[in-house]
Amino acid sequence: MKTSNLSVLRVIFCFAAIALATNVSSGQENTAIWEGVYTAEQAARGEAVYTATCIACHGQDLGGNSNSPGLVGMGFMFLWEGRTLGVFYEKIQAEMPTDRPGQLPAKDYLNVVAYILHKNAFPEGDEELPSSVEALDSIAIVSKP
Ligand code: HEC
Repeated sequence: MKTSNLSVLRVIFCFAAIALATNVSSGQENTAIWEGVYTAEQAARGEAVYTATCIACHGQDLGGNSNSPGLVGMGFMFLWEGRTLGVFYEKIQAEMPTDRPGQLPAKDYLNVVAYILHKNAFPEGDEELPSSVEALDSIAIVSKP
């Protein structure tokens, strides 16, 4: 390939990268979350984590109790719309469960995020959630497009 072709490719690649980055930061147009970002099996594993470690405070239906916030529905979207799964994951990992924050295996935190997405009616797909926070940060929590 000639050098000139190569530099044209480079320019195209740059524009694609910028377009991608802009899309992610603008949040609202980033609807990847509606294309299936976790698997059914992963949500099932997350349910086991939830039942063992979260249910006492956040409730069987994830509706919360008088001391703990609900994790589903309008309340969830009110707080999390426009923010990313990376931020959501990191908050849970840093602060939950409140009596021993950060003490679960990283996989458990990831799986419980999948379960919470499942309970909020986000669709399941063929691939599990990415395990890096960077990749999770490219997925915005947005209402159904
Ligand atoms: C001992 C009670 C308790 C347990 C167990 C617990 N939480 Fe919480 N959780 C709370 C309280 C209280 C808050 C609100 C204060 C805060 O945000 O730190 C909270 C906040 C949250 C939030 C933020 C809610 C929001 O929308 O801002 C999420 C998400 C969450 N918990 C998930 C979990 C998950 C997942 C687990 C299990 C791994 C868990 N919690 C275990 C008491 C608990």
